[in-house]
Amino acid sequence: MMDWTDRHCRFFHRLLAPRALLFSEMVTTGAIRHGPTDRLLAFDAREQPVILQLGGSEPDELAAAIRTAEAFGYAGYDLNCGCPSDRVQKGRFGACLMAEPERVRDCLSAMREATAKPLSVKSRIGIDDVDEAPFLERFVTTVAEAGIDTFVIHARKAWLQGLSPKQNREVPPLRYALVEALQRHHPELRIVLNGGLRTPGDVARAMRWAKGVMIGREAYQNPASLPALEAAAWNRPPPVTDFTAVVAALADYVDQSRGQGVPAAAILRHTLGLFNGRPGARLWRRTLSDEMRSPLAAGDLVRRAAAPVLERQAA
Ligand SMILES: Cc1cc2nc3c(=O)[nH]c(=O)nc-3n(C[C@H](O)[C@H](O)[C@H](O)COP(=O)(O)O)c2cc1C
Repeated sequence: MMDWTDRHCRFFHRLLAPRALLFSEMVTTGAIRHGPTDRLLAFDAREQPVILQLGGSEPDELAAAIRTAEAFGYAGYDLNCGCPSDRVQKGRFGACLMAEPERVRDCLSAMREATAKPLSVKSRIGIDDVDEAPFLERFVTTVAEAGIDTFVIHARKAWLQGLSPKQNREVPPLRYALVEALQRHHPELRIVLNGGLRTPGDVARAMRWAKGVMIGREAYQNPASLPALEAAAWNRPPPVTDFTAVVAALADYVDQSRGQGVPAAAILRHTLGLFNGRPGARLWRRTLSDEMRSPLAAGDLVRRAAAPVLERQAA
């Protein structure tokens, strides 16, 4: 999620969701072309499997971006056809690409030439005033001609004019039934449901018919929910999270990253919700918020902030 997630967030989420497939925020082909690629694309192998989400609409540029990214070891690539922001529309990619399924198919064909890794497309169910069901059917079947079978679908349409990106994630109604019908008509496709999934119950209900779920805002705003959400996706009982191990790994990562010039706050800003819903959640949040911007902040801050919280949980 642009402006929210980054490699440090992924490292943290991986500690809480060991089996999930993690997606990068959208990285545009232009950004990759102009670099610096290390800052944009490098990540820690412990985050794997990680999918790089690309923003672009030119087959050649997407293929070139993948050839550059291949050196970084991504597990696969996704093409963004769901972002409605003005900036993205000016570049003629994101959600407005849904109006050009043949172009998307050609983009995916070019991406396929550049890599043997798994490819997917993330889209909405439609744009503007289209009749969603036939529009989505045509979009998906056309793109699938490129040999793509995985579609991550945010189950609401995007309005390209008049709504902000934030409103476009809240105002158009969620229509899971339409995505479910698509999956039922196309058992050969892997439809991954996205949009508004917040509880293990939501995930379990979706997994009755979907081949996967993608979770955005809830994962970021309430990372403590990740273990139970992941367990629901795999139809397992909720796990007992080993917070002592999570804290130890996080503290070590802060120290290691500091050695590479990454300030502690760049990592810890993602972790304020680690203990949400548990005793000591506020103390953790407050200690980190107060101290993480200090130039001296390091792994020790994580251990110190967590100690009273872990003690309370053990009691
Ligand atoms: C701040 C923010 C940035 C986002 N950036 C991206 C992005 O880069 N690529 C993308 O496919 N979706 C992006 N999204 C959309 C989410 O991936 C997701 O489709 C949407 O929030 C609905 O799912 P949710 O209800 O689980 O959050 C973003 C969402 C937010 C809140």
